[in-house]
Parts: sequence; C-alpha cells; structure tokens
Amino acid sequence: MSKVARLAFAVMLAGLMAGGCERWPFGESGKGKSSLNRDLDSDQVLRGESLYKKHCLKCHGEEGKGRVLDWRIRDADGHLPPPPLSDIARTSHYPTAVLIEIIREGSPAGQGKMPAWKGKLTEQEMQDVLTYIKSLWSDPVYQLWRNMERHSLEG
Ligand code: HEC
Repeated sequence: MSKVARLAFAVMLAGLMAGGCERWPFGESGKGKSSLNRDLDSDQVLRGESLYKKHCLKCHGEEGKGRVLDWRIRDADGHLPPPPLSDIARTSHYPTAVLIEIIREGSPAGQGKMPAWKGKLTEQEMQDVLTYIKSLWSDPVYQLWRNMERHSLEG
C-alpha cells in the first residue's frame, strides 16, 4: 500500500472507531472503570501517572493515545514516531520484561527517538510508569495481555 492509501485507511478506521463507539468491541479504557481484578497496585498506578505526565506525555500523548493515525509511518528523517501506548496499537502485545527493556534502553540506534531512561528513572519508577500504562488498557485487552504474560513466564 502506498503511504497515502495507508493514511486514508487509518483515517477511515479512526472514523469508524470514533463514530461507532458502541460497536467498538473493547469499550472504554479500563482506567478507574474496570470490573476486572487486574493485580495492579493502585498507589503504583498513581505514582506512575505523575511520572508519565512529567516524562512521557509530551511524546506519547494524553492517556497514551499519542499519534493514533501515523505511528507506523517514518518521519522525513527516517525515524519512527512515538506509538500510542494505550491498547489501540501494539504495546499490549509485549510482556513486561520486553517493555521494561524498551523503557530502560530506549530505541535501538537509528529506529526511533525513544530516550533511554536508565540513570534518569529508578527501576521502581520504570515499573510504576509501566503499571500506569497497563491501567489504560481495556478489560479484554488486559486479559489477553495477562494470558500472554503467563505464557511468556512459563516458556
Ligand atoms: C522524545 C519522545 C519520547 C519520550 C519523551 C518518551 N518516548 Fe517512548 N517512544 C518514543 C518513540 C519515538 C518510540 C518508538 C521507538 C521505536 O520504534 O524505535 C517510543 C516507544 C516506546 C515504547 C514501546 C511501545 C511500542 O508499542 O512499541 C514504550 C513502552 C515507551 N516508548 C514508553 C515510554 C515511557 C514510559 C516514557 C516516559 C518515561 C516515554 N516512552 C517517553 C518517544 C518517546
């Protein structure tokens, strides 16, 4: 697909999602509304939220919704833009260990401009901010993620 066609497709998808919320199978973000027991510590979510606002929001957007339409399309300088961290993109496809590694080490050279947070955030703070990100995912996505996480720990 050409860039224009991909963008048009993304716009169409976003339109469908925005226009037909009741048909969007994943409902609203799980934050504060979840009926699922998520095993997420609520103090940790709050600590993570303030770290997120301070360090991550400017690139990944309000509640991780970031650049919804064009996060797969490289910028003019060849770098990938910040993906949304909410459940509309791919973050919930990765286990905790991989996500912490991305946060700690940043983008591999030449790929994107995700900064490395080692030395700037403690290991605990990285876990806190990731716990906040998980709290943004809807119940069904969180449940799928948790099953995958279990497999990744067993495997
Ligand atoms: C200067 C902009 C910028 C800031 C600030 C930033 N990020 Fe990123 N982040 C990026 C970019 C760009 C990528 C995509 C990197 C790539 O593909 O190489 C990314 C990728 C990620 C990913 C991988 C997501 C995925 O689905 O692939 C995670 C997780 C992440 N960032 C978390 C954070 C957290 C947590 C913070 C705050 C502590 C943060 N980022 C701050 C730009 C930023």
